[in-house]
Amino acid sequence: MKLKLLLAMLLASQALHAETLIPQPAEQRYEHGKFVINSRTTLVYSPELRDAAIYLLDYLPLKRLSPNASSNNSLRLATDPSLAPEEYRLTVNSDGIVVQGGGYGGVFNGIQTLLQLLPDGIYAKNRRLPAEVVHCEISDKPRFDYRGLLLDVARTWIPAERLKRYIDLMAYHKINKLHLHLADDEGWRIEIKSHPELAQKGGFRGGDSPVHPRYAKFDEKWGGYYTRSQMRGIVAYAMARNIEIIPEIDMPGHSRALAAIHPEILCGYTPDTSATNGLDLRNVWCVARESNYELIDDIIRELSEIFPSKYIHIGGDEVDVSQWESCPDCRRLKREKGLQSGAQLENLFISRVSEILSRYGKRPAVWNEAVKGGLLRRSTRVYGWQSMKHCLEAADKGYPTIVMPGEYLYFDMKQSPSEAGHTWAAIFDAKKVLSLDLRKSGFDKRLMERVEGIEATFFSEIYIAHNPESNDYLDYMLFPRLCAASEVAWCGERKRGWDEFYESLKGSHYGRMNSMGIAFRLSTPKVTYADGTLSASVDDGSEIYVTDIRSGKSSRYIKPITTDEPENYIFASRYGNARSRDVAGRERKRLKPEVSVTSSMPFSAKNPASNAESYSGRIARTVRAAHAGDWILYTFSEPVQCGTIEIGTGHLHLRRCLFLKGRMEISYDGKAFTESVPLHEGSARFAPKRPVLAVRIVAEGNSDAENNVVVQAPKIIK
Ligand code: ACM
Ligand code: ZN
Repeated sequence: MKLKLLLAMLLASQALHAETLIPQPAEQRYEHGKFVINSRTTLVYSPELRDAAIYLLDYLPLKRLSPNASSNNSLRLATDPSLAPEEYRLTVNSDGIVVQGGGYGGVFNGIQTLLQLLPDGIYAKNRRLPAEVVHCEISDKPRFDYRGLLLDVARTWIPAERLKRYIDLMAYHKINKLHLHLADDEGWRIEIKSHPELAQKGGFRGGDSPVHPRYAKFDEKWGGYYTRSQMRGIVAYAMARNIEIIPEIDMPGHSRALAAIHPEILCGYTPDTSATNGLDLRNVWCVARESNYELIDDIIRELSEIFPSKYIHIGGDEVDVSQWESCPDCRRLKREKGLQSGAQLENLFISRVSEILSRYGKRPAVWNEAVKGGLLRRSTRVYGWQSMKHCLEAADKGYPTIVMPGEYLYFDMKQSPSEAGHTWAAIFDAKKVLSLDLRKSGFDKRLMERVEGIEATFFSEIYIAHNPESNDYLDYMLFPRLCAASEVAWCGERKRGWDEFYESLKGSHYGRMNSMGIAFRLSTPKVTYADGTLSASVDDGSEIYVTDIRSGKSSRYIKPITTDEPENYIFASRYGNARSRDVAGRERKRLKPEVSVTSSMPFSAKNPASNAESYSGRIARTVRAAHAGDWILYTFSEPVQCGTIEIGTGHLHLRRCLFLKGRMEISYDGKAFTESVPLHEGSARFAPKRPVLAVRIVAEGNSDAENNVVVQAPKIIK
């Protein structure tokens, strides 16, 4: 009886092991016993696996031994040509550990699985021996050859060392393509020797740079760029980690940073300074200007010297074709070539750039809009981002397709309504990412054959507004959504359901990510209030903290709180560097008194003042930028008695379209404004002691570089 129980427990512990890896291997069998890696364990590897061996030594302080020596007590890395390039077999028994892969990538994937079987501390590179590994036999290979992550270093600069950290984090999750968005409206991030001004000027925005700040850090020159030698180092670093870097220079749109330095690339250029505080909003290369292709040739030639990837991504998204329509040269070219639309003119541009690419042995990759014109060559790789429908369309038309629809894989989207991020594609967390199912989305066998893989994405327009010198915001947006994306990309149809995956995530992977130093997002604590008792709970083993907003004090939540005012408490959980979003004990009661909103600036017809008056969550927008003395006035039809009033300019979570400097003024009689508070990031909050009849925002200088001001509805809290 006792023996049976012991056996059952052993089996249970083995079953548990089988659930802990992310992404989940195709076949895994665990046996009794553990192999102990100790200071006498020898690392044996064949010469072509030298980089993989050096990589492993960073995590395990083993004696090195080169090629193919036989030894007991060894950790052996070997290639096996009978396996597919990224396939591997990991065997752990009493003789030692063997990692066999079809090629370098296969062996590297096997090493990642081995790291996950070692104690979590391995990721902190504590290099402590002995270390135990459970006896096992794992056979595994990826569903998709392309398992990508896009990082937008153009909008928000990420220096080389921090980029390498993300390369490491990708490698731990068997993500093997880094799509590096190197140029966009807000920055140019790669040194081009023949045109040094591109990086030297375009690598910075604000201050004396011709590139205007658009999202944050308006008062400083900020940015950076990768030198050629630095980037070669990053490419090699990534390659040793089985990661190919695919560079992107986004053209013909999204090119404002370059155009700020070389305005002659634009259509029929005349300086445009009137309505935009000097910011020329045009960002599209002229298709008809022959010397543009000489500049592009220089850029592509140098990129080819830096990046070994077969592909260079040349953009093709969100092109404002109206700039071509008002250009006599582009109109003439369109007519001469018999082209029917702006989309076809874009195809012409792409085909010209593709010719340059092929001169340097490279192939083009583009965003899905480029499919629209109908003239794109079938060998072009298409990245489907706008929606699943666009991914299906690209595959249906015969293009090798990367599936990355915003509603599943744009990790710049919010993870819940109250958090930071964009919303245009969806608001979603890791659970939604894991639900991505290509077959259910309409990819039949024929279309599936054209799918090269999937790509998670982080565009960084607003990262710059979230302490971009730190990893915290980016970590929080990427993890654990990237863990779920890695399961989808690696496992395909055999991926786990959410419940099983989540067990693995919180049961094992939280510990690993903690040791990796990731400030990831935890699940949201559940908060309930009933009969005067406020309680909070979590389902992932993290610690709950509670903040009393009256005192600002935070403490560990131990037991339920007895209170009549649950709205005064904010809960959040933590686990190492990881944190959840905040949850209020009860949403504060919002008042919506009748208000009329007027301004010294006219409001746009599309976003009138009534948007702010109706508290609908929609914004009102002026038709021009603000200058010192401009104001926005909120007049209530009756005196308002409340706890706080907050009024603001600019988008939520984003310092854009706002008063950079100014004050909020308060009037109790609707005539004299007798109290004032300075604006902070375009907004201010005030706790009135008496009923209020009117409030207003007064600018003390220009608004930011946009040509309009966003006006929020007042937030009035009981
Ligand atoms: C994109 O998000 N414009 C590719
Ligand atoms: Zn033109």
